[in-house]
Amino acid sequence: MAQTLNTAVSRTDAPRKVTGTATYAADVIPAGMLHGALATSSIAVGTLTGLDTSAAEAEPGVVAVYTHENLPDYKSVKGFYAGGPGSASFWPMEGTEIKYAGQPIAYVVAETAAAARRGAQLITADYDSRPADVHMDPADSFVIGATGDSKGMVATKGDVPKGLAEAAQTLDVEYTTPFQHHNPMEMFASTAEWRGDRLTVWMPSQSVRTLRLGIAKAFGLPETSVRVISPFVGGAFGSKAGITPYAMLTIAAAKAVGAPVRLIVTRPQMYTVATFRPESVQRFRLGADETGKLTAFEHIEIAQTSQFDVVTNPGTHITRAMYASPNIHTEQRVARSDTNTGGFMRAPNEMQTFFGLEQAMDELAHKLGIDPVEMRRVNDTDRHPVEDVPFSSRSLMECYDSVSDTFGWADRTAEVGSMTDGDWLVGYGCATATYPTNILASNARVRMRGTGHAYIELAAHDVGTGSYTIFAQIAAARLGLPVEACDVVMGHGDMPVAPLAGGSGTAASAGSAVHDACLRIGRLVAAEVSRQPEGPLAGVSADRITLEDGVLRGPDGHSQSLVEALASTATTEVEAVGEFRHPALTDKLIRATFSGGYGTAGPVTPECAMFAFGAEMAEVHINRWTHEIRVPRAHGAFAAGTILNRKTAHSQLMGGMVWGIGSALHEVTEVDKPRARYLNANIAEYLVPVNADIREIRVEMLEERDDYVNPLGVKGIGELGIVGTAAAIANAVHHATGRRLRHLPIRMSDLV
Ligand code: MOS
Repeated sequence: MAQTLNTAVSRTDAPRKVTGTATYAADVIPAGMLHGALATSSIAVGTLTGLDTSAAEAEPGVVAVYTHENLPDYKSVKGFYAGGPGSASFWPMEGTEIKYAGQPIAYVVAETAAAARRGAQLITADYDSRPADVHMDPADSFVIGATGDSKGMVATKGDVPKGLAEAAQTLDVEYTTPFQHHNPMEMFASTAEWRGDRLTVWMPSQSVRTLRLGIAKAFGLPETSVRVISPFVGGAFGSKAGITPYAMLTIAAAKAVGAPVRLIVTRPQMYTVATFRPESVQRFRLGADETGKLTAFEHIEIAQTSQFDVVTNPGTHITRAMYASPNIHTEQRVARSDTNTGGFMRAPNEMQTFFGLEQAMDELAHKLGIDPVEMRRVNDTDRHPVEDVPFSSRSLMECYDSVSDTFGWADRTAEVGSMTDGDWLVGYGCATATYPTNILASNARVRMRGTGHAYIELAAHDVGTGSYTIFAQIAAARLGLPVEACDVVMGHGDMPVAPLAGGSGTAASAGSAVHDACLRIGRLVAAEVSRQPEGPLAGVSADRITLEDGVLRGPDGHSQSLVEALASTATTEVEAVGEFRHPALTDKLIRATFSGGYGTAGPVTPECAMFAFGAEMAEVHINRWTHEIRVPRAHGAFAAGTILNRKTAHSQLMGGMVWGIGSALHEVTEVDKPRARYLNANIAEYLVPVNADIREIRVEMLEERDDYVNPLGVKGIGELGIVGTAAAIANAVHHATGRRLRHLPIRMSDLV
């Protein structure tokens, strides 16, 4: 049954999703449930001087209105998991301070959702308003924790000025990327029900463990009194990773009002109550000899952060791992402005930094007259350029070779503007993609019955990516069962601990724990059959019996399928808790994950650097007269270790590339500068690609074996696809037009 891995298996949860029987957080209706709505600040920075809730309270259906003055049990939240992506240190409705536009100022509870929203609209506020700016000033940036240590936020090797002086060509450029906001299809929702001191919260979450511990601490409850339920998540991408004020407000309101309360955050409010991709500046100084070999590599990233937190999504940790250079300097800087705290958004360290890095490589190649693919080839390296450890596996150039073939890179004529199709200028561009392999501790429980069924249980998450299916596949392969006979249950905070569904780490980490649990099941059943008076493995010492692809094998060649072996014993069910503890995981990292944090041993351990790689190529057509930009083709070849499911992996990579096209050409959160507010906080005006924008997308998944990362050899593919797309398109735009566009998104008006 090993063939259940690396095959195309349809999602096991698909029938439930298409028939509407998959229960999302906002589908739950506890008896007597009331509805919540948020009123938010209309100014960005200042002080609340008055809040009139009388009209809201008089509104038919409104049950209660809570403000900073009367919301009980909320203040205790402060300080817990405070700061950093996903969990801001400043919480709304604790006082009168306003730090960003759209900050919650009141919480209305009503009998219907409509009454709650009407009530919220009737609340009026007076403010002492102060000037505010959503945009950062890069001149005010500072280094995040400058340690001088290469593992830290500044890394230096050799002498960059010397390397630049020795170069045949140099480049000194700056790229900018805008604010981008999450718009998952499933709105942010939370439903809270208290029964005495016991609390149940239904909420879409990428980390039920984090949420459960955080809620317990905030409300002074033992962990066992809190149930967190999140079996289905309708899109997350980082937006549902943290502990959010709207959930805490809902829990507090439910307690105060004495009834279950559900809040569905409105689409515009989703722009200010959760995380986003901060705007950034990417500065590169590169030098290379005539052959394209880098003599100097400098990357300084300046990322926007709030006035009260420092967001650490250090992209320079990733860019400095890409290409060999004797002289390297990278710096991770932030600059503050008046927003809520940003955080994770699909490839949070990589998307914006690779828009810079991969254009810079293209610019330098162009200056040197070298083919862009060749530029990557001469700078490819099998050791991490700064940490000087080998890559556990690195198939970057294999990816370029593969995608060059499918795309027809050889047809590209180097000269700018040399390719045309009638009224259309044609450009070909390429870019490297990468994503770090994150390694986190995980547990998983597997029960197997003699009837040939298995039940897999863990506090992991399927955020729409296919985790239900791949865990069933892993169990099926190891236990020798059909995929349909393996039932996976996830998304409850009290299940065996699994890490946050982020950093593309679920398959690698939680999947390895499922794998381990199955091996333990094999050992338990082996012990049973070896004790039997008869049977193919009777009397064989249990520790000499191995489990391979669902078959128990003795040293003398005797064997028995695991399910037959189990059925032959008096035991009706065996249960094992599997553990994934990669040797690079320190106790501190393991403890971090078990206490709701993110304890990754990746991507660089003392022995290895672990990254998945890809190469992307895009063709753009630009209308000579209207400057309309089209992307008729985008191809990607990716190598990410073992591919567990060729169908769901393909969807992840393709979805990433589609989002990459959106990033390149559509996506931006527009800012009303004088008011320091977002202008297009809705999905009508926040542009994303539609089917008509997406033509041919081709995804190749290369074979790659990696025995270091985990027993399954899985690196993770959730974010890899988005990383190179925008740069490949920008490079293609340059090839077509000679215009170098160093900002996102790229629009028709930029080409006039
Ligand atoms: Mo993903 S941005 O690591 O949730």
